[in-house]
Amino acid sequence: MKRLGVGFVGSGFNARFHLQGFTAIRDADVLGVWSPHQAHAAETAALARRLDVGEAKPFHSIAEMVADPAIDAIWLCGPNFARIENVEEITHTVTSGKGALRGIACEKPLARNVAEATKVATLVKGAGLMHGYLENQAFAPAVERGRAIIWARGASLTGRPYLARAAEEHTGPHMPWFWQGKLQGGGVLNDMMCHSALVVRLLLTKPGAPASSLRPKRVTGHIASLKWTRPEYAKKLTQAMGKDVDYTKHPAEDFASVVIEFADEHGHTVLGEATTSWSFVGAGLRLSAELLGPEYSMSWSSLDSGLKLFFSREVKGQAGEDLVEKQNAEMGLMPVVAGEASADGYDAEDRHFVRAFLGKEQPVLTFDDGLEVVKLLMTAYQSAEQGRTLDFPPPGIETFVPAVAKGTWKP
Ligand SMILES: NC(=O)c1ccc[n+]([C@@H]2O[C@H](COP(=O)([O-])OP(=O)(O)OC[C@H]3O[C@@H](n4cnc5c(N)ncnc54)[C@H](O)[C@@H]3O)[C@@H](O)[C@H]2O)c1
Repeated sequence: MKRLGVGFVGSGFNARFHLQGFTAIRDADVLGVWSPHQAHAAETAALARRLDVGEAKPFHSIAEMVADPAIDAIWLCGPNFARIENVEEITHTVTSGKGALRGIACEKPLARNVAEATKVATLVKGAGLMHGYLENQAFAPAVERGRAIIWARGASLTGRPYLARAAEEHTGPHMPWFWQGKLQGGGVLNDMMCHSALVVRLLLTKPGAPASSLRPKRVTGHIASLKWTRPEYAKKLTQAMGKDVDYTKHPAEDFASVVIEFADEHGHTVLGEATTSWSFVGAGLRLSAELLGPEYSMSWSSLDSGLKLFFSREVKGQAGEDLVEKQNAEMGLMPVVAGEASADGYDAEDRHFVRAFLGKEQPVLTFDDGLEVVKLLMTAYQSAEQGRTLDFPPPGIETFVPAVAKGTWKP
């Protein structure tokens, strides 16, 4: 097979980033989009055609899209609460012989908890499909290049890195379902720690070595509501997101931190420290990472961008998101992340999984990696609930559901 025909499930914020990513790919065509809202599917298909990434058309159902012989792979970009039903429809269409696929790539998190993530992985493997776990930050050029150079120059001469830090911070998600623990699976820990927990592990892992060369041993998690349960902000949140998002009754955490103690290939301890927040106010989304070893260090912040614009107080334009994701201001000195989809890793990620499904590369992140991330996140929640460090994996993790996801969490 020379070219991969791709169908998108979901037509939201994330799908649009992937469509940008596909503009950098030569051997794939986006040919379909399904979303429960036909108008949205049609708009996203039109965007795909405008971007010239393929002759995409809207489909009436996932089953119809999977059954189309032109579709070889699915990019799963629906909301977390729909993972199981989406994967069931995809795999049922394949196992009942109504359609054939080579692979499925799924957005983070693989699912809302370990039981669901295990089901997703089992269904996809049972249908004989290749699988890729979409973690764009693993492919961000700053992370990839920083890691490669640190390991090639610093670690090879003076010893492996021993501490990695990662953070993802912004003012809060764009859609109501992210804020609802039951629908999303948790708060910011579930939503964004999946990125940072994987990034610290990746940075500490020698390029080319398997993920299993670094074994998580102990996990200490902490969660808090720093901003959005304050009465004035809880009110603002309900006004912006609707009455189902009521943080006076069913809050989710807007800050999370985790320390993961790993055993390296010699049994020595190395540390990953990650922070995520929906209570950060800066120019916009801030991604950051550090990697430290005996004679070297690396640091990256997405807001230290090479391009900055200044607007005086006379420039009173409309609020927008044209400078940086989750933008907070349009005045003063503002950073611009030029080519955001590329800088955030979407181009390289999408190219990699297209090539993997075409049989040209081994997938570097699979549903097994996605499942392991969910296990780490659930252990962090369990640790936060119990107020102590836990050995990984703790007993009962297979059925654990965080209090935040049950709507019973008290900050
Ligand atoms: N990698 C990243 O940095 C990143 C960024 C944002 C979102 N995400 C992930 O991508 C996924 C989508 O997030 P988003 O920001 O696009 O959300 P969104 O709310 O903007 O879009 C969700 C899309 O799913 C569609 N949808 C609604 N119900 C559905 C169902 N039952 N089945 C399938 N699709 C359905 C909606 O119509 C919409 O098109 C989530 O899992 C999220 O965690 C990842």
